[in-house]
Amino acid sequence: MADLEGKVIIVTGASDGIGRKTALLLAKKGAIVVLAARRKEILARILKKLTGGPQKHLFIATDISKEGDVKRLVEEVIKKYGRIDILINNAAISYVGRVKDMDIEKAEDVININLLGTIRVTHGILPHMIEQKSGHIINISSVLGKGAAPYRSLYCASKYGMEGFMESLRLEVGKYNIKVSMIRPPSVRTNFSKKIELDSDIKHHELTNFKVISVAKVILDVIKRPRREVNMGIFAKGFIFLNIAFPALFDAIVQER
Ligand SMILES: NC(=O)c1ccc[n+]([C@@H]2O[C@H](COP(=O)([O-])OP(=O)(O)OC[C@H]3O[C@@H](n4cnc5c(N)ncnc54)[C@H](OP(=O)(O)O)[C@@H]3O)[C@@H](O)[C@H]2O)c1
Repeated sequence: MADLEGKVIIVTGASDGIGRKTALLLAKKGAIVVLAARRKEILARILKKLTGGPQKHLFIATDISKEGDVKRLVEEVIKKYGRIDILINNAAISYVGRVKDMDIEKAEDVININLLGTIRVTHGILPHMIEQKSGHIINISSVLGKGAAPYRSLYCASKYGMEGFMESLRLEVGKYNIKVSMIRPPSVRTNFSKKIELDSDIKHHELTNFKVISVAKVILDVIKRPRREVNMGIFAKGFIFLNIAFPALFDAIVQER
């Protein structure tokens, strides 16, 4: 079991949902947590709640769609702690809508945050992990990163893209003792889906209802026992298996009617 005491861990998307809960749990286990997200006031409030006190940890208001913000995030972490042990790529936005009605500006936002944002942060921390000859990059993908659903084209594009990027990265950095893991939760009880506007005729229902703490515990477990991937729960496992093993049946079940 890896000891988290003193490990420097960046959590993107730490102001809400899975990222917030994970940050609190990591601090409880002794880690030094760097909170990154756009909403500064919320991050400041979470910082005060982290075990070990605000002096131990750090929050850095960061929009991962902005190269300058990401550069500053990495610089400040290295300045204060001199190393980055773990990166948790968690920040993302949702999108639900048909491709035919898609707003291309919205498409740019989703890709710029979920995919390019993740790439930016990973690219920024990588030289430090390579120099250290150690590190762990943990990515919060989704069940929709390995099997699609109607109305989720942009979200799937961003998560499939992230998965491909990380698979390739894993093959480059193993020699530096850097691990890359993918976690695929099904629907989790957060504000994620509440932040989107739905076309009136699209019914968006969540098929599972995981608690954030379940995902945070899986993240902790992956830190302790690094694995390539975790498909969370029976629904995610079944959904992904069906898509890979029986693609025609998968399409018949999942398609819009
Ligand atoms: N909830 C689910 O059902 C579910 C299922 C599977 C996978 N996931 C994945 O789990 C991860 C976390 O989702 P969640 O449910 O916890 O969502 P959430 O509660 O909406 O939290 C998303 C976080 O991302 C941050 N964020 C958004 N845009 C950002 C940007 N440009 N720069 C930096 N931070 C940004 C938000 O903070 P600010 O607004 O303050 O920037 C927030 O802290 C996501 O990768 C999501 O795809 C979620």
